[in-house]
Amino acid sequence: MQYKTGVATAALLSATALAANSTTSVPSSCSIKSGSTVTAQAQLDQYSGCQSLVGDLNIGGDSLTGSASLANVEEIDGSLNVVNATQLVSFAADKLSSISGSLSMKQLTLLQSASFGSLQEVDTIQFITLPAISSIATNLKSLNSLEISDTNLESIDGFNNLETVTDFNVNNNKNLAKIDSKLKSVSDSLQVGYNGDEADVKFDNLVWANNITLRDVSSASFAKLTKVNQSLGFINNSIESLNLSVGTVGGTLTVVSNDDLTDLDFSNLTSVAGGVVVANNSKLSNIDGLSKLQTIGGALTVIGNFSVLDLDSLKSVKGGADVETKSSNYTCDSLKKLQKNNAIQGDAFVCKNGATSTSIKLSSASGSETASESSASSGTKTATASTISSKSSSSKSSGGAGAQMAPVSFMGAVAAVAVALL
Ligand SMILES: *[C@@H]1O[C@H](CO)[C@@H](O)[C@H](O)[C@H]1NC(C)=O
Ligand SMILES: *[C@@H]1O[C@H](CO)[C@@H](O)[C@H](O)[C@H]1NC(C)=O
Ligand SMILES: *[C@@H]1O[C@H](CO)[C@@H](O)[C@H](O)[C@H]1NC(C)=O
Ligand SMILES: *[C@@H]1O[C@H](CO)[C@@H](O)[C@H](O)[C@H]1NC(C)=O
Ligand SMILES: *[C@@H]1O[C@H](CO)[C@@H](O)[C@H](O)[C@H]1NC(C)=O
Ligand SMILES: *[C@@H]1O[C@H](CO)[C@@H](O)[C@H](O)[C@H]1NC(C)=O
Ligand SMILES: *[C@@H]1O[C@H](CO)[C@@H](O)[C@H](O)[C@H]1NC(C)=O
Ligand SMILES: *[C@@H]1O[C@H](CO)[C@@H](O)[C@H](O)[C@H]1NC(C)=O
Ligand SMILES: *[C@@H]1O[C@H](CO)[C@@H](O)[C@H](O)[C@H]1NC(C)=O
Ligand SMILES: *[C@@H]1O[C@H](CO)[C@@H](O)[C@H](O)[C@H]1NC(C)=O
Repeated sequence: MQYKTGVATAALLSATALAANSTTSVPSSCSIKSGSTVTAQAQLDQYSGCQSLVGDLNIGGDSLTGSASLANVEEIDGSLNVVNATQLVSFAADKLSSISGSLSMKQLTLLQSASFGSLQEVDTIQFITLPAISSIATNLKSLNSLEISDTNLESIDGFNNLETVTDFNVNNNKNLAKIDSKLKSVSDSLQVGYNGDEADVKFDNLVWANNITLRDVSSASFAKLTKVNQSLGFINNSIESLNLSVGTVGGTLTVVSNDDLTDLDFSNLTSVAGGVVVANNSKLSNIDGLSKLQTIGGALTVIGNFSVLDLDSLKSVKGGADVETKSSNYTCDSLKKLQKNNAIQGDAFVCKNGATSTSIKLSSASGSETASESSASSGTKTATASTISSKSSSSKSSGGAGAQMAPVSFMGAVAAVAVALL
């Protein structure tokens, strides 16, 4: 055991008692009948002689009115589920320090406060549909999975001291104004979204996460983020400036529909193993924050009204490229050069600005007879914007083919290539 010398004997004894086989040390009155539901405070009081409870403690129903509490219990070897206790206004279990399973508080329409003042360890927390709650107290140090959804919380301070979790999902909390987390890693997914769109979000200790998606936040700070193992996405936020030190993204990087974004600085980013999508950020006119990006494992998609797109370090794009801007100041020259050098390896290539048309390259015979020319550059074909464009310029496309036909002819061409390669 990891107890240091000098710890009082009493503490050692109680620690040993806690660590002992709980099924044998817990009296039968502290063992919860499986499938049962507590519906009255008197039933909770029956557990007041128990330091440990074994089994799942389910609390629910409309006969628990006002306050309810679980006194004295320090440990639950099982889960604590408070679900659909429709008249419950407050709940407290302030001696409880550990729950081996989950702590779920769901569909508690009147619940205003929940207090778990000693709670340090839980596997999973779900606080879902708590429309009246304004405070949740905990002292959590260890947790795997956190989901806080559809609550009235303005902050989630009780969860700010955690250093590592598997999942962190905070969504649909319309009054949430702030998250200031000390998390250092998230081994599965970090999702913050659909909360009030004024939320300021800080994960300044986070070094890596498997997946990150932020939506509807007004600012985001990730001072130490160096790696995202899978995908990283910023969608529909009101963030004005996004400054990330991240060096590698193991999946797709998505920065889409952030209407206030004027500054994108990902100047340590060298590699993205999936696609890169930077699109519909209406105020982002100068995209110079991707200048160290060298490799893209998927396709490159940049769509918007930008006059600068600096991809000066780019050496390899495994997929195609679709770069479209309304600005005539951007020139496709450098991108076309990359394509010509086979740095852009995918079949589809579109580069378009406000002034010029689009081109598409098919890497082998484009739907015609000969498949044998496959990778030879003589198979290159150029089409005009009107036959393939599907995005921004459909209404003003001047070619004969209708805009609606465009994706079909594009997919047809891709399919033809696929067939030719068989
Ligand atoms: C706990 O005690 C029960 C009953 O004596 C036994 O079956 C079980 O294997 C024990 N578990 C552990 C982890 O020691
Ligand atoms: C919640 O409790 C109310 C009142 O006790 C009951 O009518 C309703 O069916 C319950 N809802 C669920 C989803 O269990
Ligand atoms: C990462 O996020 C993507 C997109 O949301 C999802 O498809 C994928 O399953 C996630 N992976 C993990 C391990 O959570
Ligand atoms: C993600 O990357 C970090 C940092 O390189 C590594 O320690 C971690 O094991 C990886 N996690 C997963 C789930 O692959
Ligand atoms: C952005 O949010 C609006 C409304 O909140 C929604 O209609 C739209 O689909 C969202 N866009 C994306 C890309 O998620
Ligand atoms: C981003 O952060 C780095 C390091 O803190 C700093 O040097 C750089 O100026 C910042 N960029 C923007 C656009 O704020
Ligand atoms: C890039 O990383 C270096 C150290 O690895 C750091 O000093 C610098 O601030 C980072 N730049 C940005 C823009 O975060
Ligand atoms: C950008 O916005 C247009 C029109 O609102 C939409 O059709 C397109 O799918 C969006 N692109 C991305 C990558 O979200
Ligand atoms: C594109 O941006 C320029 C300024 O950078 C602006 O004048 C113009 O209205 C924008 N066009 C569209 C279609 O958003
Ligand atoms: C486009 O270039 C012209 C000439 O260099 C410049 O005056 C204008 O400000 C630029 N527009 C944008 C949106 O960068």
